[in-house]
Amino acid sequence: MKSLSHIAGKLQGQKMFQILAQAKELEQKGVDVIHLEIGDPDFNSPPQVIEAACAGLRNGHTHYTISAGMKEFREVAAEMTQRSRGFLPTIDQILVTPGANIQLYLAIACLVNPGEEVIITDPCFVSYTSIIELCGAKAVKVPLLEQNEFNVDPKDLRKAVTKNTRMIIINSPNNPTGALMTEEEIKEVYEIAESFDLYLLSDEVYGRMVYKDDRTQFFSPSVYDQCKKRTLLVHSFSKSYAMTGWRIGAVAGPEMVIQRMALLLETITSCVSPFIQMAAVQAMTSSQDYIDEMILTYRKRRDLIVAGLNDIDGIQCLKPGGAFYVFPNIKGTGLASEDFSNTVLANTGVATCPGNYFGEGGEGYVRFCYTNSDEKILEAIDRIKKFLS
Ligand SMILES: Cc1ncc(COP(=O)(O)O)c(C=O)c1O
Repeated sequence: MKSLSHIAGKLQGQKMFQILAQAKELEQKGVDVIHLEIGDPDFNSPPQVIEAACAGLRNGHTHYTISAGMKEFREVAAEMTQRSRGFLPTIDQILVTPGANIQLYLAIACLVNPGEEVIITDPCFVSYTSIIELCGAKAVKVPLLEQNEFNVDPKDLRKAVTKNTRMIIINSPNNPTGALMTEEEIKEVYEIAESFDLYLLSDEVYGRMVYKDDRTQFFSPSVYDQCKKRTLLVHSFSKSYAMTGWRIGAVAGPEMVIQRMALLLETITSCVSPFIQMAAVQAMTSSQDYIDEMILTYRKRRDLIVAGLNDIDGIQCLKPGGAFYVFPNIKGTGLASEDFSNTVLANTGVATCPGNYFGEGGEGYVRFCYTNSDEKILEAIDRIKKFLS
C-alpha cells in the first residue's frame, strides 16, 4: 500500500475531541456523564441570531460570496473593534473566516516558513503546536508556571527568541488556564515583538469572557500598532456568543497579510456562508446584554468549581480571571494527568481534559471547563471527592 504524505503523518488534531467521543460512548452505555471536558458553552445561540440566519436562507443568501467576507460584516466588525479596542481598522484589515482555528493556520502558513520558529507557551491551546508542526515550522515553548499564576515571564520570552523566530503567540484570557494577562505583561510582550521585529498573534477568542472585579481588565496588544504592522487579532463568535457550531469568526491584521490570508482561505474553503455572516452581523449589532448575563453565570460557576476543587484532598486550584476553564494542580492525588482524567471518567462519569494534552508543562494539572449548570458542577465535585477519598 502507498504511504501517506508527510503532512498527514504530522497531524495531531485536538485530543479533547477524543475524550468527548469516549464520554459519548459511555453515555450510550447508560452512564450519567457530566461534561466538563470541552470548551463549548452550554447556552443556546441568541434567538435573534438564529432568526437572522433563517431570514438569510429564506431570502436566497445561499450562494458564494466574496472570499474576504461580506462588506457589511467587515464594516460592523471594524466598528466593534473601535468600541472594544479603541481603534478603527480598515475593512481590508479584516478577514471573515469559519471560526478562529483556521485563522491560526492561515496566519502561520502565510507568515512562517518551514524551519522557522514560533514562540508559544506551555501549556497552550492544542492547535498552536499542531498547526505549527503541520506547516513544517518549530514550536518554541516558554513555560506558564502555577507559581506565576500561569502568566508568561517576559525574561523567558526574550531568551526564547532566536534569529529564526518569526512570531509570538499569546492567548489572554487563556485556554487551558483561564489566566488573564495584565496590561504591563502585554506591553512587555509587545515590546519584545517590536524589538526583534516579530509578528505577534494575539488569540482573543475569550476576550469578552473576563470577570471584571478581578486584579486585571482585558487588554489587547492590537492597540499599539492598530494591527497595521505586526499584530494579528484572532477573534471568533464561538465562545462569547455561544456559536461554536456556526463556524464564524474574524481576524484583523496588516492589510498585506490579510490579503494573503484571504487568498489562502479562498484556495481552501472559497468563502464563509453568507447567511452565517448575516447572523453574525445580527449578533454584533443587537443588544449585548445577554453576553453580560452569560458572564455573570460563568463567574458564579467559576467560584463554585474553584471552591469545590480546593475542598478535595490533593487538589489545589487558582481562581482565574477569564475564559471558562480552571486548571487545578492534581499532583497531591498521586495520579498523573491522564490517569486522573481516565480513572475519574471511568469511575465517576465526570469528563475532564488531562493537562498534558496542552503541553508537557500541563502534566500534573487537569482542565475543567465549567460550561455546565451549578447543579452538575456540584455533583461532579461530589463524585470526584467521594471517589478520591
Ligand atoms: C484559545 C483558542 N483559540 C482558538 C480556538 C478556536 O475557536 P473556534 O475555531 O471555535 O472559533 C479555541 C477553541 O477552543 C481556543 O480555545
